[in-house]
Amino acid sequence: MDKFRITGGNPLRGRVSISGAKNSALPCMAAALLTSETVTLHNIPYVRDIITQRRLLEDIGATVLTPELRTHKIMADHVELFEAPYELVKTMRASVLALGPLLARFGRARVSLPGGCAIGTRPIDLHLAAFQHLGAEVGLESGDVVARAPSGGRLRGSEVHFDKVTVTGTENLMMAAALAEGKTVIHNAAREPEIADLGELLNKMGARVRGCGTPTITIDGVESLGGAEHTIIPDRIETGTFMVAAAITKGELEIKGCRPEHSAIVIAKLREVGVEIEEVNQSTLHVRCCAQGLRAQDVVTEPHPRFPTDMQAQYMALMTQSEGVARITENIFENRFMHASEMQRMGAALAIEGNTAIVEGPTQLTGARVQASDLRASASLVLAGLAAQGETIIDRVYHIDRGYERIERKLRAIGADIERQKASVTGSLRGAAPQAEEVATGIN
Ligand code: UD1
Repeated sequence: MDKFRITGGNPLRGRVSISGAKNSALPCMAAALLTSETVTLHNIPYVRDIITQRRLLEDIGATVLTPELRTHKIMADHVELFEAPYELVKTMRASVLALGPLLARFGRARVSLPGGCAIGTRPIDLHLAAFQHLGAEVGLESGDVVARAPSGGRLRGSEVHFDKVTVTGTENLMMAAALAEGKTVIHNAAREPEIADLGELLNKMGARVRGCGTPTITIDGVESLGGAEHTIIPDRIETGTFMVAAAITKGELEIKGCRPEHSAIVIAKLREVGVEIEEVNQSTLHVRCCAQGLRAQDVVTEPHPRFPTDMQAQYMALMTQSEGVARITENIFENRFMHASEMQRMGAALAIEGNTAIVEGPTQLTGARVQASDLRASASLVLAGLAAQGETIIDRVYHIDRGYERIERKLRAIGADIERQKASVTGSLRGAAPQAEEVATGIN
């Protein structure tokens, strides 16, 4: 398994470009299963989860061409298999996104139940209840979820109220409802920018989806969908991670190709902390740190438009360098503080009380040998390593490869002393198949 070696202390300076959003690309790729025509997606990030999703589509029978590195042409005209097997679901929970489109288009789908993962239990009960509202029969066979449309083969539109905001659940239901008979109204829908991106693609394919970005989404089902061409939105979490990278190294970065409005809450929080952030234009941020120093501020993770759970770990790294005590409360996932003990090994002063981490700063972090445990936790350890004195070795960086495009190259180009120590060819990003020990970590 590859490792990162980081020697901390360099202020990061220069320009960095943001890649496409993995969490938008994954549902948009799944949406291509809704039609026999070609769906062309641009700005797909070159990350491991995308390779896994591509493999899933190909296993199902779709053809995926990449005329350019970041463009996928997906043709699901010869679908033979209506299932996502355990081998794929266990490495990437987004595989469950195959359920909605397969069920809607072919009237049946089988997806292995995602197990528990490193950031807590990740149930899909809300997805399944939503499909039942649309008339599907849902059962469990040998650890797989098996869903069938009512006799006649078509789902029926319905009112669905999610008890809890679920991003993947909202996406799965939007795709299922797009081909259902009649109108579906989703109440308490997720409002993440990735939802609006999927809605835009579906509408380009001929769907009738309204209200994305609000808590109520209305979908008038159509009989069939066609091909479309769509550009994936920039990754707001990568944007946030680089904002923290500028701040934690006391550097100055121009972050290009981003969408500042998708990061509004993170920008606001970082400004409270003392980071100087200028919105240069609609796709560029200028981030500088920090004439007045960094001041600790509390944060609570909640569904969009509140502070994202996917920035919690990176924010924790920043709080180790900020003056005062910060309480960081994680409300979306249980067990999402695994980076905390690794940061403690680097000298961070922090304690965990239930779903709250209490961080006292500033502390001089020192390099150590640490282990990545999930995608965003890995990013936070990279950030801590960049701020630490001496050498940090981060083990199991396959987690970071799942969601950050060539992060070490991007960081090196702006002055970081970071290198990838390769274990073997199969451990690298190029190896599409994850190794046995690289599983059971779910999506993030
Ligand atoms: C979540 C985050 C998303 C983030 C992603 C990766 C939220 C609301 N969602 O999306 O921003 O990018 O993780 O880290 O912040 N739940 C159920 N039953 C279900 C589905 C979900 O109880 O059927 C619960 C989950 O356990 C969790 C919450 O609902 O506590 C949100 O889950 P969900 O939004 O579905 O997770 P992701 O789509 O993975």
